[in-house]
Amino acid sequence: MKPLEQFRLINTEIKQYEEALAVLYWDLRTGAPRKGMDTRTQVIGTLSAEMFARSTSQQLGALLTELESEEVWSELSPLDQSLVKESRLDYDRSVKIPPALYQQYVILTAQAESKWEICKEENDYESFQPLLDQIITITNEMIDLWGVKASRYDTLLDQYEPGMTVAQLDHIFGDLRDQLVPLAEKIAASPHQPRTDFLQQGFDVEQQKAYSKFILEQMGFDFEAGRLDESVHPFATGLNPGDVRITTRYLPNDVTSALFGTIHEGGHAMYEQNIGAELIGTTLCTGTSMGIHESQSRFWENVIGRSRPFWNAYYEELQSKFPQLASIDMDTFYRGNNVVNPSLIRIEADELTYNLHIIIRYEIEKMIFNEGLQAKDLPRVWNEKYEQYLGVTPPNNAEGVLQDVHWSGGAFGYFPSYSLGNMYAAQFMNTLEQQMPDVWAKVEAGDLHPIKDWLTERIYQYGKMKSPSELVQEITNEPLNPQYLVEYLKEKYTDIYRLEEV
Ligand code: CO
Repeated sequence: MKPLEQFRLINTEIKQYEEALAVLYWDLRTGAPRKGMDTRTQVIGTLSAEMFARSTSQQLGALLTELESEEVWSELSPLDQSLVKESRLDYDRSVKIPPALYQQYVILTAQAESKWEICKEENDYESFQPLLDQIITITNEMIDLWGVKASRYDTLLDQYEPGMTVAQLDHIFGDLRDQLVPLAEKIAASPHQPRTDFLQQGFDVEQQKAYSKFILEQMGFDFEAGRLDESVHPFATGLNPGDVRITTRYLPNDVTSALFGTIHEGGHAMYEQNIGAELIGTTLCTGTSMGIHESQSRFWENVIGRSRPFWNAYYEELQSKFPQLASIDMDTFYRGNNVVNPSLIRIEADELTYNLHIIIRYEIEKMIFNEGLQAKDLPRVWNEKYEQYLGVTPPNNAEGVLQDVHWSGGAFGYFPSYSLGNMYAAQFMNTLEQQMPDVWAKVEAGDLHPIKDWLTERIYQYGKMKSPSELVQEITNEPLNPQYLVEYLKEKYTDIYRLEEV
C-alpha cells in the first residue's frame, strides 16, 4: 500500500473511533440510567485509549514525515494536504501525552460530567469540588507536556480557537466591555422597557416539541440526517453529515428556552450536516473551530431567530400552537424576546449581557491557570465577579458556579468561543447583507434556504479545511473585528428601547 493510502486508512479509523465515542457520550447525556454510568465510563476509557494509540502510533508519525517530504507533498491534492497538516498538529499534540495519563483524564472527566449533573441538581458544590481539583491538576500536567505558550492559559485557548491568544482576547474583550457596559446602562435607563410577563406562563410541552420541529424544518435542518432529543444541557453532536443529533430542553412555564435553544443547536447541526461529501470519513469532517461553530449557532439563534422579520414570518404559527399568545401582538412578542436584563444564567442571557457572562468565565479561567486559583475559591470569585459585572449575586451555587457543564468535561478555554461566535456572526451578517441586499425580505417571506445556501457555500462545506482566520478574511475581506457586533447591538437596541429619545 502506498503511504497516502495507509495514512488515509489510519485517519479514517481514528474518525470511526471518534464517531463511536460520540454515540456513547450522546447516550450518556440523553437519559442513560445512572446505575450504568460507572461501567459506561470504563468503556469510554478503553475506546478512547484505543483511539489515542492510533493517533500517536510510530507508524502514523513515520507516514506523516514521508508525506511531508517535498516530492510527495507536491503530488498531494489540496484536501490531502489539509488532512496531513491537521493530522500533524493533532499528532504532535497527542504524542506528548502519556497514554495512561490520557485514559485517566478521559475517565475522570466522564465521571465528573455525570457527577456534575447530580451536584447541580442538589446544589452541592462540595461534592463536586474534589473532582474539579483533579481535573485542574491533570490539565496543568498536560499544559506542561504540551508546552507553555505565551501563558499557561494560551496553551488551552489555542486548542479551541487556533491562533487566538490571551493578548488578543484581553484587547478584544476589553474593547467589547467598554462599549457594551454603557449601552446596557442606557438600556436600563430607558422608560420603554419591553413586556415579558406573557413569556412565563404555561406552555404545553407537546406543542413546544411540535413547534421546535417546525422551526428546524424551516431553517433547513434535515431530519433524515439528524434527530432532536432532550437533555438537561442542550448540545449538538455531529457523528457524520448523515447523522447529526441535537437536544433541547422543554420548560412547562417558559416557551423561549426550548425555542431559542433549538434554533441555536440547529445552527450547529446545519454546519455539520452540510460539510462537503469529499471530507466524510476524514478528521477534517467537522467544524473548523469552536468559535466558528458558535458563530453558526448564534447567527441562527440571535441574528436571524431574534429578528423582527423572522417573527413576521413565524409568529402566526406560534400563536396557532399557543392560544394564550392570541392577545399579544408581534411587536410585543419581538421586543419581549429581546429584553436586556442582567441575570444569573448564561444560557438564558440576552445577546448583550451574554458577553459579560463570557468575560467573567474567561477571567476566572485565566486566574486558575495563570495565577493558581483553586477550586475551593471558585464560588467566592464567581459571585464577586457577577456582582461586579452584572450587579447580581447568585443565591446558591447551582445558579452560580455549578451552572455550566464545561469545566466538568475539562473544557477550559472553550468559553471565549461563545463571544467570538457572536463577533464572527455579526461580521458575517454584515457581508451577507451586502451580497444579498434582499436577505431580510427573504426572511420575512419565510424563505430561509438562500441563507443556508450562502453559509454552505462559504463556510459549511469546508469543514476543517480552512482555519478560522482564513474563513473570516476570505468571506469578509478583513480579520475579526468586534466593531460589527457593537454596531449590530447598538442598532437593534436603539430601535427596541427607543434610545434616541433617552
Ligand atoms: Co453552542
